[in-house]
Formats: sequence, structure tokens, C-alpha cells
Amino acid sequence: MRDGRQTLAAIDAADVRFHLTSDMWVRIETVAETGSTNDDAIGLARSGAPHATAVLASRQTRGRGRLGRSWESPAGGIYISAIVRPQLPAADLTALPVAVAVGVAHTISRLVGDARVKWPNDVLLPGGKVAGVLLELGTSRGSTEWVVIGVGLNVRRPGDGFVDGAAYLADQVPDITCEQAAAAVLDGIAEGFQLHVGGGGSAVREALEGCDALLGCEVSVHEADGSCVTRGRAAGIDDAGRLLVEGADGSISAIASGDVTLRHVDSEQRSSRQ
Ligand code: BTN
Repeated sequence: MRDGRQTLAAIDAADVRFHLTSDMWVRIETVAETGSTNDDAIGLARSGAPHATAVLASRQTRGRGRLGRSWESPAGGIYISAIVRPQLPAADLTALPVAVAVGVAHTISRLVGDARVKWPNDVLLPGGKVAGVLLELGTSRGSTEWVVIGVGLNVRRPGDGFVDGAAYLADQVPDITCEQAAAAVLDGIAEGFQLHVGGGGSAVREALEGCDALLGCEVSVHEADGSCVTRGRAAGIDDAGRLLVEGADGSISAIASGDVTLRHVDSEQRSSRQ
């Protein structure tokens, strides 16, 4: 790519394999730049690529995020999409996004310490969001044909400056390579997938308890269009991966999707609820 931007190398797949702990990955493909690795993986899944195929890119031009948003994907990040083929109906996969976020938070914690999950699938470091997860499913007559698990990870700050609310692995581990970071993400996806397949939603719920960034916090949950779904105190998830929010009257709402923001609650309001 010589369009005035930095020439970019593809991630070295052999070096990623060298750093992997998981033996789940059958096929790892790397490209320097693509539109969206999720789109590439969906194409591969539809043409029969096996379970545990992964596509890795160093930059995306049309990266996609949750709730129909775009995902900025400059050089300095890594963009990974994995094809998995769980033998479960889509209705039984609702906790899988949380499971993957928990797995990635665990493997990132081994590199930099104290990564946490903000429901449903953001991975946070103390400085901000370090990774986001986007799952897309292909189903046929109720059964799951494929799931594409996309993860975008911030490794180094992009050359063109500051991104509000973002955290970067290299701020804490300056000599980390993209291959080490990619291996951590693939290990995290494998861990999350195996957690879900092996233990189901209850295992995911229990695993989240150890790294839940929201537990006990006052939150608001909004739809993509900004309308408020509920507000109250975050109380973990249920076995379907839904966020539990305890209202001021003690009622519990179970939220299947939305955006969570932390609320500032003044001390008078807080003490009246204790
Ligand atoms: C989020 O909104 O937080 C989820 C972002 C997921 C981005 C990743 S980057 C790799 C894969 N390809 C995409 O186009 N999106 C996902």
C-alpha cells in the first residue's frame, strides 16, 4: 500500500503460532489490510472453512462495531475474526459474547494486568477500552452453521494522535509485538469458546464475577438510538448473558442488548438505597 500512508506488513502467522498456548487453531490467515476481517471470515465460513479458522489484519478500511457502528481500525491495532462452528442452536449462544470478552480479558491480564469486562463485550484496562468484540451468526432452520467472532485490539497509539477513552497494550508493555498480542487474543477467544461450550451460561456468569467492571455500579442502559432502557445498580448477568440491573424499588431487569454508561449518583441518593 503506497497511497501516502505507512507501508504495512502482515502479522507473521508462524510467530503468532509460536506464542499461542491454545492448540485449537486449525488455520490462521494474515493480511496487511482488508475491509473488515469479519466480512472476510463470513465469506470463508460460507465457503466451508473449518471450525477454528482465523483471519488477522493489521489495518481495516471498513471495520464494523456493535449496534451498527463503525470501528476505527488504524495501523497499530490488530483485527481478528475467528470462525467457530458450535453444535448449538443460536438461542443457546446468547452468553457467548460475554464468554469471549472474559477469555480475552484473562489473556490480556496475563500480559498487562487487571483487564476487566464491561458488559456485554468491551475489555477495559484502567486507562480505557482496549478491545471490543463483535459476534455474527449464520443459521439455517434454527441450527448454527457458523459464528464469526471479531475482536479489535489496541496495541499501539495511532500516529495521528489521541483517541478518547481508548487504552493501549504498549503503554504498559512497550516492546510487545503484534504477534504476541494476536496470540493473546486467539488464546482468549479459545478460552471463552471452551468456557461456554464446556460449562454453558452458568460457567460464563461465574467467570464474569471475577472481572466484572460494572458489578455494583450505578448504570444507565440505552438503545443504539439513545433511548433509555433502564437505570439502576448492575448486578452481574444471568445464565443467558443478560445484564441484571436492580432498580431503586428492588426490582430486577434483565437486559439482552444495549449500551451501558456509568452514572454519577450523589451520596444522598446512594445512602437512601443502602
Ligand atoms: C465493538 O463495537 O466494541 C466491537 C468492535 C469489534 C471490531 C472487530 S475488529 C475485527 C472484526 N472486524 C470487524 O469489522 N469488526 C471486528
